[in-house]
Amino acid sequence: MRIILLLIYIFIGVFSDPYSLFIPKGFPTPFIPEDNQLSDSRVALGKKLFFDNMMSRDSSLSCASCHQPQFAFSDGRQKSVGIKGRQVSRNAPTLTNVAYQPYFLLDGLNPSLETQVKIPIHEHNEFDFHILLIAERMKQDSLYVSLSKDAYNSEPSPQVIAYAIACYERTLISGNSPYDQYFYQGNKTALNDSEIRGMNLFFDDLYCASCHGGFNFSDSRLTNNGLYTNYTDQGRARLTKKTEDQAIFKTPTLRNIGFSAPYMHDGSFESLEQVIDHYSSGAKGHFNQDPLIQPFDISQDQKQDLIAFLIALNDSSFVSND
Ligand code: HEC
Ligand code: HEC
Repeated sequence: MRIILLLIYIFIGVFSDPYSLFIPKGFPTPFIPEDNQLSDSRVALGKKLFFDNMMSRDSSLSCASCHQPQFAFSDGRQKSVGIKGRQVSRNAPTLTNVAYQPYFLLDGLNPSLETQVKIPIHEHNEFDFHILLIAERMKQDSLYVSLSKDAYNSEPSPQVIAYAIACYERTLISGNSPYDQYFYQGNKTALNDSEIRGMNLFFDDLYCASCHGGFNFSDSRLTNNGLYTNYTDQGRARLTKKTEDQAIFKTPTLRNIGFSAPYMHDGSFESLEQVIDHYSSGAKGHFNQDPLIQPFDISQDQKQDLIAFLIALNDSSFVSND
């Protein structure tokens, strides 16, 4: 009997406040795990945690310190800085449409948003803390205690923390850029002539869309785009140690790219101009470089058109709506 009552309670708890996720026109429904369906209270708890400095050992940083809404949830730095000014080895990626990614981290080594949450918490150079100790801090705070109960019918725990933050991250959906208005929403004046010429270069004349294609401007493929012949960061081989994984990184989305400079895993390019010069030169020729990347010749005007198109992937409603 008690089990039945508990099941009814959980059922009511989850379905009384289902979160209505806005799916932009042209986008598929993202994968949401069976055991972590979205609800208003889960998303609200996850958002509060995401922006709360008590997540880090000395209460100086939150997830949002490195994933700031105004930079499309990246941080504007070449490489991130953790607690006590500790240097992180990579550039913070945008969390735009992270719900659609099949795996996480720049080398794709993490399988789920839920398991990803612990990584920055435990990382010496980021929060240098422990998820159990965060749960203890939350138990001292009556608001967190009641939010956890509403969200998961549980006291604060590592699972509540990881699951709630993953729910919030899945709501970071962006699909209202001028390109979306033009292409998916049928507003033929949303792009100007230069942006349209840039769009044609991107999709037809050049090879960009072979990797950065589809509604999210990424096929999430793990590959090498030839930044160096010798990489300091081993990419996927960092853990797998395999030669075929040397300097292999996940193809990032290009949505909100105008907000998330600098670029690449090490933030080595400050501008989109540098990115295009990199590809047009045919890249550096690392032994794992994808054969799709070949040199191409475009005029200065065409380069400006391509940049204008990339900037038209900025969704200002996404960065202003934290
Ligand atoms: C000190 C800066 C910093 C903090 C704090 C931080 N992150 Fe990150 N985040 C990064 C960097 C850098 C990466 C890329 C790491 C890698 O690939 O090894 C990253 C990667 C991610 C990714 C993977 C994105 C993708 O496209 O695969 C997610 C999701 C994420 N962070 C969420 C969070 C959450 C949730 C928190 C808080 C619990 C957090 N981050 C705290 C800097 C930070
Ligand atoms: C073979 C697949 C592939 C092709 C083709 C490709 N890219 Fe990329 N792109 C990648 C990968 C992989 C990265 C990440 C590399 C890294 O972080 O070191 C990347 C990174 C980028 C970035 C930086 C994104 C960020 O958030 O840091 C931009 C901008 C970009 N590419 C634009 C383009 C453009 C424009 C073209 C066409 C001229 C193009 N790419 C062609 C795979 C590709």
